[in-house]
Amino acid sequence: MVNNGFRTVETTRGPFDPGGQPDLETGQPLQLGFFGWNVRAGMMASKAVLTDEARLADYWVWERSSKLIKLAEEIGFDYQVPFGRWIGGGGATNFNGAALDFLASAAATAPITEKMGVISTAHITYGFHPLHIAKFGATIDHISNGRWGLNIVSGYQAQERAAFGRLDPLDHDEAYDMAEEFVVLMKHLWHEKERFNFEGDYYQSYGAIVAPGPSRSPRPVLMNAGGSPKGIDFAVRNVDVVFTLAPSLEGYRDKVAQIRDLSTKYNRKVKIATMSWALIEATDELAAERLAWYQDEVDLEAVYGYYQALAGIDTFGAGDSSAKGDDYEGYPGLPREFVETFALGMTSPRLCGSPETVAEKIRALHEVGIESLFINFSDPQKGLHQMQDDVLPILRKMGIRN
Ligand SMILES: Cc1cc2nc3c(=O)[nH]c(=O)nc-3n(C[C@H](O)[C@H](O)[C@H](O)COP(=O)(O)O)c2cc1C
Repeated sequence: MVNNGFRTVETTRGPFDPGGQPDLETGQPLQLGFFGWNVRAGMMASKAVLTDEARLADYWVWERSSKLIKLAEEIGFDYQVPFGRWIGGGGATNFNGAALDFLASAAATAPITEKMGVISTAHITYGFHPLHIAKFGATIDHISNGRWGLNIVSGYQAQERAAFGRLDPLDHDEAYDMAEEFVVLMKHLWHEKERFNFEGDYYQSYGAIVAPGPSRSPRPVLMNAGGSPKGIDFAVRNVDVVFTLAPSLEGYRDKVAQIRDLSTKYNRKVKIATMSWALIEATDELAAERLAWYQDEVDLEAVYGYYQALAGIDTFGAGDSSAKGDDYEGYPGLPREFVETFALGMTSPRLCGSPETVAEKIRALHEVGIESLFINFSDPQKGLHQMQDDVLPILRKMGIRN
């Protein structure tokens, strides 16, 4: 207890929504996010990207990514969502081995856009104090006139934690308890008009204030990317968008039901988002041909690099990667299933096929309860134009987009 004359706030755990939750409606039945634009080769670990690196791998270079983001907004995408990655998987493609920062880049995307939400990702357990993020966020929210949002990820990779000097193991569930306190303190910082004290188990703050506060009322949008029961519980208790994955439509249906039950229990409104990987061609046959080429050229070393980094984590719903597999192509313990689901699309639903097929796949996801779909394109320049010319008109006819 510090006797500094400031009030100590009582609430240190969620659910906590002073002033309520932000309104997330954009008028679109299915919201769209332009995903993973900031990372080399996005969600495609294939040596095929080396045939045209500027287009298929290094679209993150600002000269290109800034144009892609503007194009995504023009087409009607509701958000830009970066992928939060500090260290790549290596291999011949240097997969994900370059990334524009996923927190600061929202500030750069704000003045080049007018309507779309600009999202940052922060790994909260790597050492930020909530005051850092509350201040950065309030600033980007000002610059963007209330369009900033934060994707909170707990931070799970041992090699990334090590890069931040953290060699101690982090208990999975405790990371979410920390995250909850982190979020509650941020919400206080965005809400309180006077300096205050906060005394939690993981975070303390004495006499802090964030002025100016965020532009958006009551506060910026918060999202969590995760999938475990503890992660989902955390998300429904504390954030506004639950960004998750499932291995099948059935799996999504179950997850949506679980999230809806929890949101009734906690009396909170959340939107359900997922990510996807798109490969769109004029016909299904052409898309299948290109997919086969990407598959033939899979960068196994990069996939293996990722696999080892994910050891012990059921990160993307592909199963615990410490469960040893079958020495795929001479890589010790590498499960075939991991290669097949991870290399192209990082285990997310594949939007692969003709515009009609892709639109049907999107409709199927929407029908099982997905309200926001974040898309990483195998070829973003081409993919955004295909969305504009071919896929969005079908989605409009389906009543999924206005
Ligand atoms: C859809 C989705 C997107 C994710 N995006 C990121 C990301 O951009 N950066 C990151 O470090 N982790 C990301 N993660 C990993 C999660 O933040 C989390 O650490 C991981 O899923 C383990 O938590 P869990 O056991 O609750 O699922 C993502 C997970 C999911 C399911």
